[in-house]
Amino acid sequence: MAFFHGFIIVWLSLTAIPFGCLGSYDYEKISSVQKQKALFVFGDSLFDPGNNNYINTTTQFQANWWPYGESFFNPPSGRFSDGRLISDFIAEFAELPLIPSYFAICKDQFVHGVNFASGGAGCLAESYRGFVIDLKTQLKYFKKVVKDLKKKFGEKKSKRLLSNAVYMFSAGTNDYNNFNATYPKEEYAKMVIGNLTYVLKGIYQEGGRKFAFLNLGPFGCAPGSRALNFQRGNKSGNCIEEMNTLAKIHNSALPKMLKHLEQQLPGFKYSLFDFFKVATERIDNPSKYGFKTSKIACCGTGPFRGIYSCGGKRQVKEYELCKNVKDYIFFDSGHLTEVAYQQAAELMWNGTMDVTEPYNLNSFFNLPA
Ligand SMILES: *[C@@H]1O[C@H](CO)[C@@H](O)[C@H](O)[C@H]1NC(C)=O
Ligand SMILES: *[C@@H]1O[C@H](CO)[C@@H](O)[C@H](O)[C@H]1NC(C)=O
Ligand SMILES: *[C@@H]1O[C@H](CO)[C@@H](O)[C@H](O)[C@H]1NC(C)=O
Ligand SMILES: *[C@@H]1O[C@H](CO)[C@@H](O)[C@H](O)[C@H]1NC(C)=O
Ligand SMILES: *[C@@H]1O[C@H](CO)[C@@H](O)[C@H](O)[C@H]1NC(C)=O
Repeated sequence: MAFFHGFIIVWLSLTAIPFGCLGSYDYEKISSVQKQKALFVFGDSLFDPGNNNYINTTTQFQANWWPYGESFFNPPSGRFSDGRLISDFIAEFAELPLIPSYFAICKDQFVHGVNFASGGAGCLAESYRGFVIDLKTQLKYFKKVVKDLKKKFGEKKSKRLLSNAVYMFSAGTNDYNNFNATYPKEEYAKMVIGNLTYVLKGIYQEGGRKFAFLNLGPFGCAPGSRALNFQRGNKSGNCIEEMNTLAKIHNSALPKMLKHLEQQLPGFKYSLFDFFKVATERIDNPSKYGFKTSKIACCGTGPFRGIYSCGGKRQVKEYELCKNVKDYIFFDSGHLTEVAYQQAAELMWNGTMDVTEPYNLNSFFNLPA
């Protein structure tokens, strides 16, 4: 994806969202709004339910064609996997409906939450700028939703819904995919975390209190990274350790920032899931978790099927598709399969302190705001 680095394109304004259609919402349900759980989702392709279908971007940042979605969605939704994502499973475990994409909230109920995530998005505005909805813009859209909530349900009920809701984030990987080596690694991470903090504070100001995070996965071990290593002349198919180092630096800064916010902002609570650990464990021992391989993607081209060509709609038109997707951890060069996401989501939901702390999401949802 580094191909796009440096391009800056002024993009289509997406502000003309017809919020008026909320008027068709069933007002009898409003009384239950205050008791309701809600899930607001932010970030990148790990959580994107199809927001990028609605923006002016390229197929590099979209996945709304077969075989994406093949295990669950027909037609394909735009999710970067064969099926449901972690955020979908969390909604399911919390007994919520699938959380609608921001651009589809007219068609769906939205008092259960909204998903703003955008494939390719990072914490920095520079990461794939012009092709994705960056985190700051996601915050802007969230503020519009809050405004509308207040208009429809009143200040008091909205406040209760917002403070009781869970705000879930997957963000950062794309910033390190676009790592700007003129910065020392730690300083770059500080900038990434600083921009994430800005967005968290923005949500807090709107009344959000419960924040849930995944740390960064070992993206140096994705089939795309192994393929890159192969193309650089390293035929072993090893992980790219420099990438995993960036993830580790970020992952050690993230809990420090969260603890700091907890002290700084009254009522701020968080849950942090160690995705790096859970994914590494499966990549190192695939058969222990029901997989046949962790090195090769189910869908793609070239070494480890690590060329990002699944479905043949991007630059490279040829691709191979595996027979049994359940044997694979990775669906394409950089994204996991539904089964792998489900395993992660279950640990995020009811895992123990060694993978999710200080709360798992099951207890987090039930925590009084
Ligand atoms: C969409 O983006 C492309 C470049 O990716 C640009 O050429 C085109 O003008 C844009 N369209 C609109 C409607 O902004
Ligand atoms: C990297 O960051 C420097 C300093 O902000 C900036 O001048 C430069 O344009 C950036 N390089 C790229 C490739 O974005
Ligand atoms: C946010 O990122 C920008 C670069 O996109 C950087 O210049 C700025 O300092 C960062 N803000 C914080 C609070 O770290
Ligand atoms: C291949 O990559 C691994 C891990 O990055 C490294 O230890 C090894 O020395 C590399 N081999 C070659 C021939 O570059
Ligand atoms: C964790 O949650 C999943 C999904 O609800 C369930 O299948 C599993 O049995 C639960 N495990 C434990 C230990 O509660």
